[in-house]
Amino acid sequence: MCGIVGILGRKPVSGQLVEALKRLEYRGYDSAGVATVENGELGRRRAEGKLQNLEARLADEPLMGRIGIGHTRWATHGAPTETNAHPHMTKRVSVVHNGIIENFNQLGSELKSAGVELSTDTDTELIAHMVTRELDAGHDPAVAVQHALRRLEGAFAVAFIFKGHDNLMIAARQGSPLAIGFGDGEMYLGSDAIALAPFTDTITYLEDGDWAVMTREGVAIRDREGMAVERPVQKSVASALMVDKGNHRHFMAKEIHEQPEVVGHTLAHFIDFANERVHIPDLSIDFASLNRISISACGTAYYAGLIAKYWFEKLARLPVEIDVASEFRYREIPMERNGLALFISQSGETADTLAALRYCREQGQNIASIVNVRESSIARDSDLVLPTLAGPEIGVASTKAFTCQLAVLACLAIAAGRARGTLSEETEVELVGALSEVPRHMSAILREVGAYDALAHTLAKAGDVLYLGRGVNYPVALEGALKLKEISYIHAEGYAAGELKHGPIALIDEAVPVVVVAPRDGMFEKIVSNLQEAAARGGQIVFLSDAEESAAGCDLMTAIKLPAVHTFTAPLVYALPMQLIAYHTAVFMGTDVDQPRNLAKSVTVE
Ligand code: F6R
Repeated sequence: MCGIVGILGRKPVSGQLVEALKRLEYRGYDSAGVATVENGELGRRRAEGKLQNLEARLADEPLMGRIGIGHTRWATHGAPTETNAHPHMTKRVSVVHNGIIENFNQLGSELKSAGVELSTDTDTELIAHMVTRELDAGHDPAVAVQHALRRLEGAFAVAFIFKGHDNLMIAARQGSPLAIGFGDGEMYLGSDAIALAPFTDTITYLEDGDWAVMTREGVAIRDREGMAVERPVQKSVASALMVDKGNHRHFMAKEIHEQPEVVGHTLAHFIDFANERVHIPDLSIDFASLNRISISACGTAYYAGLIAKYWFEKLARLPVEIDVASEFRYREIPMERNGLALFISQSGETADTLAALRYCREQGQNIASIVNVRESSIARDSDLVLPTLAGPEIGVASTKAFTCQLAVLACLAIAAGRARGTLSEETEVELVGALSEVPRHMSAILREVGAYDALAHTLAKAGDVLYLGRGVNYPVALEGALKLKEISYIHAEGYAAGELKHGPIALIDEAVPVVVVAPRDGMFEKIVSNLQEAAARGGQIVFLSDAEESAAGCDLMTAIKLPAVHTFTAPLVYALPMQLIAYHTAVFMGTDVDQPRNLAKSVTVE
């Protein structure tokens, strides 16, 4: 979602602001802009669409200020036009903003009745006017911002620069993350440390409610109550993990191909391979005392949770309550105190997941999270953090984060089974052995991608695609359909194969490809019956299995032979063909694979 950058530099900063914004592109955006203070005057340039449009504007009409703010906008209030693009500005202040101001209507009416003319559809413009009115009332910029912030409701991050001040930037965090970077006589601000990596690796994260007054000489941070506070200064690892595509055409391709390595790292963190046992560092959960686990997440991370439900219930005989976070947070679920609530999130910033976490905290739950960004809000609000070691995921469609989430969840389910006495040592050794084979199976799949290229030509012509799976592979089918729709824009749906006859079979005809996730497991015969029902109605079957083609017992459009894997680890391995089908189809269709339309990487609004 929206990205914020700010620089107090010694040279003109607009070029660096755009460079920093490029590193936030992965979050998703539909317009961008920068503003600087030059000879005491505010100036700004904005453009619809991609950053190259903004660069072209700046080439025609340069900004030479040595202090500036920049923004990539993912539209919430108002269409993605240049007028609605940030920075927003009055004669005295310029502001960039990430998040949503919930009392937008009330504040807007107040400003209008006070005679303020609003020229955009955004909630952000209101902030600029509120601060301006405080400045006009004679307050200095810090007091003006503090007064305005007190009136804002919602989750947001903001940054301001002011007319007549070429050594002053004010930033505030209420929910959405903000990192402050320290340079040599320069200071930086960014929505995350990745944006600041070219400039500095010395970072402070603002806490919720903090606001910071920055000059080239340093920063003074105050908390919600206005008390001066110190926040730890850390060395960021973002620069070590410099984000580039390597030899790949897209970040998504690079991230798909990284999976054997990053899943291997993640497993190594949670498994003692020498003793063939799971070992979760600092595990503070007493699984034996639990009656159930509640899992909450969004999108792909939710599907990881759905797979884990099968694992926890089977291996640990532990019931799992699971829901998408946007529903979970409002369901008013009764929860027994001291239960375990588990949250799964790549970014660790997803607004709905964070809100569900806070609901569970109020309900007296112990909070555990599986996150990829260790400094994230979800990680910081958790009692136990189980990290995925996927490294930065830049492609908007989640790939390696998903399989790393599964790796952590698989280990956690084994640990739960052991603690509850439902899993024998022998079975644990067998399952750990199966997990240790996963990176090898993934590599084998990634060596043979030709079939996906050929399949892409056919899928690209489809209007609808069905994905079928059963048991623990049903969520894999859901994930396959999500991947295809988000990056190729082809309509796709995942179904539990047993549900086919209860509705979706009506959709099937000769034009509908049906992707069947069919590892040879205890459900194999059943899913084969289901695929035959689809084939009998003309469905074009794409058969993903370790079994021979002939085992399908009907004509297939495509069969992709996959390695024979343990039933337990099939979701980790079969996730890769799901990703490859979507990726090759999208590339063939020429869509924007890494930044698909309308999508954001880090969904910081509800
Ligand atoms: C799909 C995808 C999204 C995310 C979802 C949750 O490819 O990436 O569905 O999984 O937005 O995001 P995180 O994991 O950051 O909470």
